[in-house]
Amino acid sequence: MSSPRRASSRRRNPIIVLACCLLVILVFVVALILVFIPRQRTSAEGTSKNLADIIVRRCRVYVQEHESLGSRDCEEIKNRFLNSVIGKDPCNITMNDYDFFMEAARQNISCNKFLFWSKTKEIAHFVSSVYMNINVINPSKCVMTLEDSLVGYMMDGLKWCSRVGMKEMDYSSCPGWNDCELNSVKSFWKRASLYFASIACGNVSVMLNGSISDPFSDSSLFANTESRKLNSKNIDEVNILLVDSPPDRNMCESSSIRELRSVLSGSNIRYKCTALKSTEVKQCISSAQSCNCF
Ligand SMILES: *[C@@H]1O[C@H](CO)[C@@H](O)[C@H](O)[C@H]1NC(C)=O
Ligand SMILES: *[C@@H]1O[C@H](CO)[C@@H](O)[C@H](O)[C@H]1NC(C)=O
Ligand SMILES: *[C@@H]1O[C@H](CO)[C@@H](O)[C@H](O)[C@H]1NC(C)=O
Ligand SMILES: *[C@@H]1O[C@H](CO)[C@@H](O)[C@H](O)[C@H]1NC(C)=O
Repeated sequence: MSSPRRASSRRRNPIIVLACCLLVILVFVVALILVFIPRQRTSAEGTSKNLADIIVRRCRVYVQEHESLGSRDCEEIKNRFLNSVIGKDPCNITMNDYDFFMEAARQNISCNKFLFWSKTKEIAHFVSSVYMNINVINPSKCVMTLEDSLVGYMMDGLKWCSRVGMKEMDYSSCPGWNDCELNSVKSFWKRASLYFASIACGNVSVMLNGSISDPFSDSSLFANTESRKLNSKNIDEVNILLVDSPPDRNMCESSSIRELRSVLSGSNIRYKCTALKSTEVKQCISSAQSCNCF
């Protein structure tokens, strides 16, 4: 009596199995979407591996290559850096949290060498590493970017954060640059930029990207921090270098650069604006004997 029923229920099985399979796949896909999409949007990786060792090593290399710095205690500088963030909320780190560290890493940079940059990192760093004055007894760099200063050199390309209650860095996850305003990394670069701009003197340059519509973008550190911290008492002139403007358009007259000009005028700082091609810049500095490319 029961065997025909069983047979008929067995006949329905493929449909039920198919329905079940589809349901399982659907649930799986939804789960994947829920799990992965939010992760991609927020926290990327955590603190750079071996952060403390990297800081000490870079500090020692830098001190060795820059005699004028005098002796520096790189262990102490590293400890001050770690103590600026360890045990703190990674989204509640202010510029002032780095003050004690900055005090130990301060330095003097020769006037006329300051090169600021925004959205031109690659060419700006190429210029600062290749452009040399070799017509003197001690060959020297023509320009210095923030990443050529001790603080910038130590931290360039690294990531870090800690958490409330933690006794070390968090190596599993850290907020991204735009996840929260007061994140450890952004506040550091703001603090370092502020210092770099505040000591700038003589004729300084800023390399901006002429191929984008807003080379002086509000969200850039140059626009919201550095350009506003330049001190007219120490600055002779700002040379705005606009790289790769479209050939048919004078970006020096664009509304974005006008805004920069008005910030500088407001601080009583003289400026000039020059449009350059990155290929010409590279060509000139590659064969330069002295600092006369721009
Ligand atoms: C951020 O940290 C400061 C101390 O550095 C504390 O006073 C403040 O309450 C914190 N804010 C938040 C939102 O946690
Ligand atoms: C910078 O130079 C001035 C004057 O030469 C000197 O008094 C000061 O200690 C130097 N600062 C640093 C951080 O080396
Ligand atoms: C200018 O910005 C664009 C878009 O981000 C980038 O592709 C280009 O390399 C930048 N130009 C320079 C000279 O850095
Ligand atoms: C800055 O450049 C101008 C020429 O544009 C020059 O006359 C002046 O002496 C320079 N200032 C310094 C401090 O070198």
